[in-house]
Amino acid sequence: MKAVVFHGPRTLSVDEVPNPRVEEPLDAVIRITTSNICGSDLHPYEGRSQLNEGMVLGHENMGIVEEVGAGVQRVKVGDRVSVPFNLACGTCRNCNDGWTSACLRANPSGQPGAGYGYPKMGPYWGGQAELLRVPWADFNLLNLPEGTEHESDFALLSDIFPTGYHGGELAMVSPGKNVVVFGAGPVGLMAAYSAMLRGAARVWVVDKAPDRLALASKIGATPINFSDADPKEVVMEATDGFGADCGVECVGFQAHDPSGDEHPELVLDNLVGVVRATGHIGVVGVYVSDDPGASNDMAKRGRVAFNYGAAFEKGISIKSGQCPVKRYNRELRDMILAGRANPSFIVSHDIALDDAPGAYQHFDARDAGWTKILLHPAA
Ligand SMILES: NC(=O)c1ccc[n+]([C@@H]2O[C@H](COP(=O)([O-])OP(=O)(O)OC[C@H]3O[C@@H](n4cnc5c(N)ncnc54)[C@H](O)[C@@H]3O)[C@@H](O)[C@H]2O)c1
Ligand SMILES: [Zn+2]
Ligand SMILES: [Zn+2]
Repeated sequence: MKAVVFHGPRTLSVDEVPNPRVEEPLDAVIRITTSNICGSDLHPYEGRSQLNEGMVLGHENMGIVEEVGAGVQRVKVGDRVSVPFNLACGTCRNCNDGWTSACLRANPSGQPGAGYGYPKMGPYWGGQAELLRVPWADFNLLNLPEGTEHESDFALLSDIFPTGYHGGELAMVSPGKNVVVFGAGPVGLMAAYSAMLRGAARVWVVDKAPDRLALASKIGATPINFSDADPKEVVMEATDGFGADCGVECVGFQAHDPSGDEHPELVLDNLVGVVRATGHIGVVGVYVSDDPGASNDMAKRGRVAFNYGAAFEKGISIKSGQCPVKRYNRELRDMILAGRANPSFIVSHDIALDDAPGAYQHFDARDAGWTKILLHPAA
């Protein structure tokens, strides 16, 4: 089959590789209809997270079931399915508690949590390819209505729509709350959109990319360009000095200032400053325990020196981590089906698999208009 293969930082190619096959009785093989490029793919792409050469990329996958193992009972050949980016066993203690993001059995390294085509997440190939092997298929796969309707909306169910929603869950967004979202990448836009779905009164979105901020405006959020204005001043003024109830971090360890210099503590400091006393912060932007490319020695060892003292004095709660996609994907699918959610407003490009290497370059450069790229291997 054809697949997007990682050969080293900024070196990808579309290669012929062996077809994945059913290896275990509970496996399925999926023919991919859509696989997205994610901001998380840029961490190995830029060499900031170590990934083995030869890995097939892609953790945001959907498609049609091509083959199932002898033990698969629920999912049938021909089913249209969304594949959560968390690869989980379904029977360990964390899976039983709904934390598929911290599955204790799927990652052979012993680290909690596994995924497709991603650093530290196990040996599993990704789905930026014609075919994908899905272990524990009955547990992991979400069924979708047959056909091709809502393809771009459903494509966001494997990661970023649930992840944005999870950011709101961690930040305890509920009806009437004032919410500030840092980052207007795909995840930040999904967090802002989810905050609206959850009934927020006002939502601010902070970034410096005008095209991304324009999408935030389009869904009724208030954009703040941090190159022009101090986000804290804007939100404090709009809330009579009270601050936002909820803050969602959708930037991660490569947070930077307007000139592009990285400061891994910058967004966390901003959030602690702008969220009211006893408010809540949800962190879905990724932070890492080792980052040889970090801008300071502490951050190289995953130690991020933000103002925890102020967070404590204000009694702010902070929750973080990977999204357990299965907690939300069924309900978010049903909101799409009912016409209550159309997350695909962020999709900027639908392209063939062969065009993936060029698309990575544009997305990595945050070139204007390259917000979210969907690859269609069957096209
Ligand atoms: N927790 C999860 O389960 C999960 C899932 C998917 C992605 N992620 C992570 O979420 C983060 C965002 O993903 P994405 O796809 O939107 O990536 P992205 O890189 O496209 O978006 C990040 C945005 O943050 C902006 N930014 C940088 N510094 C900033 C600052 N100081 N203030 C405000 N905005 C700033 C950038 O301009 C960019 O638009 C990444 O860290 C990604 O790895 C986490
Ligand atoms: Zn992703
Ligand atoms: Zn498990």
